[in-house]
Amino acid sequence: MNHQVSKSNPGIKGVPNNTGDAGRVEEQYKSIQVMIPMELDRKNRVFGFFALDNEDLPEGSQKNLNEITGTPFKAELAGLTVIAGPVVQTLQENYSKALFRLADSIDQCDKTTHSQNTALWAKRIAETMRLADDEVVDISLAGRLHDIGKSVISREVLSRTGPLTTDEWAIIRRHPELGATLMKPSLSLSPIIPMVLAHHERFDGTGYPNRLAGQDIPLGGRILAVADSFSSMINGRNYRPAISIQSAQSELVRCSGSQFDPEIVKIIIQLLRRF
Ligand SMILES: [Fe+2]
Ligand SMILES: [Fe+2]
Repeated sequence: MNHQVSKSNPGIKGVPNNTGDAGRVEEQYKSIQVMIPMELDRKNRVFGFFALDNEDLPEGSQKNLNEITGTPFKAELAGLTVIAGPVVQTLQENYSKALFRLADSIDQCDKTTHSQNTALWAKRIAETMRLADDEVVDISLAGRLHDIGKSVISREVLSRTGPLTTDEWAIIRRHPELGATLMKPSLSLSPIIPMVLAHHERFDGTGYPNRLAGQDIPLGGRILAVADSFSSMINGRNYRPAISIQSAQSELVRCSGSQFDPEIVKIIIQLLRRF
């Protein structure tokens, strides 16, 4: 039995050092509710996990990830390699890949390609702004992962088409921070965490989670805000039908300076002339 456990990093809590037997492991890990499968053996059995403490995650997180990945979590705990915090390169890469698969799964659950559409428009905006190549790549990746925090929110709440309670809204509004928590273990994703965290900030300072305003919002976050809304409007979501590109453009202009950075609205309008 091999329990490889490294020390925790911010956002990954409650993973103790341990080399004990299965019973003690179960006991020590019983508070850990969310485990992201990240390594498979040759028979496609999961043997490596990233462990996240439940403390900061909403109720039902484990169930939701289980549903998306089809992986039984706690039942498989004993005898597993459990890893937390910054880990070796291969595991980091596997972890990042697991997050991208999760992002695709969220899209599939909603029967949309919302994350991919957001990434595409974010990339087009960044290219039109002539940002450096690596920034364009980062912004595009942030688009793919911008709603990853929704993977640990109850599917029942996410797929509700009727009105949500105040508490349910509060949980949904935590998805940028939950996304940041999920991404923290991967050092390669660290440049895009601030963008994901800021994609629901508003230019006038009334957004969430930190009520940042204007240039205090990271550029990638301001680009994602426009790309996210525009792609949602022209492609539709399960709770809202698609509208025409012309109508979506008018909506961006209407919200320029309040929800969106006016400079980025100008950029997307400029690039839409090519379509
Ligand atoms: Fe979002
Ligand atoms: Fe989104």
